[in-house]
Amino acid sequence: MGQELIYLDNATSTKVAPEVVEAMLPYFTERYAVASSQFSHTPGLEAKEALDRARAAIASRINAQPEELVFTSGGTEANNLAIKGAAWANRKKGNHIITSKIEHLSVLHPCRSLEREGFQVTYLDVDHEGFIDLDQLEDAITDETILVSIQWVNQEVGAIQNIEEIGRLCRERGVLFHTDAVLGLGWLPLDVQEANIDLASFSAHKLHGPKGIGGLYVRSGVKLKRLLDGGYNEFELRAGTENIPGAVGFAKAVEIFTSEDAEYVRGLRDRLIESLLGIEGAELNGPRDGARRHPGNVNVSFRFAEGESIILHLDMKGIAVITGSACFSRALEPSHVLLAMGYPHERAHSSIRYTLSRYNTPEELDRAVEATREVVERLRQISPMKRGGR
Ligand SMILES: Cc1ncc(COP(=O)(O)O)c(C=O)c1O
Repeated sequence: MGQELIYLDNATSTKVAPEVVEAMLPYFTERYAVASSQFSHTPGLEAKEALDRARAAIASRINAQPEELVFTSGGTEANNLAIKGAAWANRKKGNHIITSKIEHLSVLHPCRSLEREGFQVTYLDVDHEGFIDLDQLEDAITDETILVSIQWVNQEVGAIQNIEEIGRLCRERGVLFHTDAVLGLGWLPLDVQEANIDLASFSAHKLHGPKGIGGLYVRSGVKLKRLLDGGYNEFELRAGTENIPGAVGFAKAVEIFTSEDAEYVRGLRDRLIESLLGIEGAELNGPRDGARRHPGNVNVSFRFAEGESIILHLDMKGIAVITGSACFSRALEPSHVLLAMGYPHERAHSSIRYTLSRYNTPEELDRAVEATREVVERLRQISPMKRGGR
């Protein structure tokens, strides 16, 4: 095609940082022994040490102990382990779980499957900007409640929930608090002690680490039933040969992600929002207050232009973004997040999500804005909605 890709889909997955690739490579080519061989030979012991170093580096970033971090295959598995694992282990205490309507499917679907097993789940509403109401959460907690699972950062509109307040409330009421922290790690500071978090899910590929590795923080003393039976790996919470190159890459990605990176991206975000809102009929979706929005998230709807057509045309121009329209969810419904926020179908159908990383430049964003303007204007000229005067 000859044109340079402008990749603005970083909430889905990020470029692996060159430093991360470099750190991982020896664990494919030279140090390929596994940690479970630690008692048999030196390469096994070295593998175990590499795994321990990676675990300690990530744990220290969130103020946890190394043995409180369980490596998983990613955020989906971490969410499943947290939710199903806590529900199954605490069945005798109660059968009620609270979550929100805007969670990632890797939270919503485990909740649905627990409902089929007889658990009761409350799905909290969110406001127009994507925030849950703490009073509603408090009212929803009953004597049967064993777990609250509320995400830290929303995948579509970037709303940052007040996890410190949620954690405080859960601790007061003696209920476990799990947060899907997949999109927050690295980008925002996290102290699991201060926030009273019992369980937190992570995924390396959201912060320039490799795909296929993530983790679950499990506060010491919290009981989980494991999903995978097998060997004694990961403190007996996750059987299976450890992904040592993945763990090393994950730790490197965490280590090199700085607050300056987040600041730089936040600057790009604000500039992009301002420019996109200069396009006629553009409306910002999600939080207005930049401090309550993920540093890399921009979500805008363009009246009288359909999201799916916009992304296809932008793709032809080498710009990768996604829409909250039907194709996003594979179902024929627009994004469950935008609908839960109370947006009408048309607004959800015309929403475009641009998510940024430290590898994006202001020039790229200027080009993306100009391309969006062109595409939106062209689509409007042929839009039946516009011609119908709606
Ligand atoms: C908020 C959130 N939670 C969980 C996940 C799942 O993570 P993974 O891709 O590592 O399974 C994602 C990925 O899209 C996400 O955005």
